Amino acid sequence: MGTDTNQIGQKGIPVKISEKDFEVFRDYIYNLCGIYFHASKKYFLESRVARRMEATGIKSYTDYYQFVKNRQGGGEELKRLLDEVTTNETCFFRNVPQLTALENKLVPEIVATKGKIGFRKIRIWSAGSSSGEEAYTLAMLLLEKRASLLKDWIIEIVGTDINETVINQAKEGVYNTYSVRNTPEFYRKKYFKEEREGRFVLSQEVKKIVSFSQLNLYEDTKMIFMKSFDFIFCANVLIYFDTASKSKVVQHFYNNLQPYGYFFVGQSESLHGVNDNFKTIHFPGGFAYKK
Ligand SMILES: C[S@@+](CC[C@H](N)C(=O)[O-])C[C@H]1O[C@@H](n2cnc3c(N)ncnc32)[C@H](O)[C@@H]1O
Repeated sequence: MGTDTNQIGQKGIPVKISEKDFEVFRDYIYNLCGIYFHASKKYFLESRVARRMEATGIKSYTDYYQFVKNRQGGGEELKRLLDEVTTNETCFFRNVPQLTALENKLVPEIVATKGKIGFRKIRIWSAGSSSGEEAYTLAMLLLEKRASLLKDWIIEIVGTDINETVINQAKEGVYNTYSVRNTPEFYRKKYFKEEREGRFVLSQEVKKIVSFSQLNLYEDTKMIFMKSFDFIFCANVLIYFDTASKSKVVQHFYNNLQPYGYFFVGQSESLHGVNDNFKTIHFPGGFAYKK
């Protein structure tokens, strides 16, 4: 590890992370979860690690690294560090063209395919779900079809994220005005109770069909158990990965999809150079990948 020779800040922590220490943390985080911090993100990583150093009272990057790596304190600190270095921005109804295609074209298609073999269950995975807005958006859309297309169908939606804090928020199902800013009035009125101004509590009906758990997409031993999904969403997650880690994770998604299933990424993402197995399916304003 590099020595922290530079200036010490007010809180007793070096003002800047050394090049060597940056590389140590960058590689450590990459090997754990696939997130890769380019040199341009040095400041971000430095400030997030410094926050944890401040919280734990550790004054050098080297000592903090040893503390986390050796799982001192029962490994809890590693969770806290990963919570700090992940970006959790999300909201309800984030990608409308994708949702419209799902509702009007892809769900009816899957229902027709599965209906023929008499298997009336639809399974969706929101991978990198953050605080649950994506998974719950999908749940609301499918609940709207319960009286018609999905009558007598079992709907199962699973949300996973590496960040334990956001998973706990997802389980709670309480949101602020910012999270629901794109939510159409119809859904806001039907599925949320505005307990007081700016506090939106999601209805039990929606929460009942969604489950959340902590999962690191980079852990092969966990990924092989995420089986038989009709739709997998992994939006705005892989943008933080490098090509090698994207390829590894996307191959798991491919394996975990039903033969007729669809895979979705975020609006500005693509699998170009990452995975050739999927076919691209275009629809107005967007696209999906088909197995
Ligand atoms: C920007 S949010 C995207 C939320 C949602 N999918 C959306 O599009 O609105 C990215 C999420 O990916 C999660 N994430 C990053 N690396 C991960 C990993 N290796 N395993 C699981 N989740 C991860 C982060 O914790 C974060 O909550």
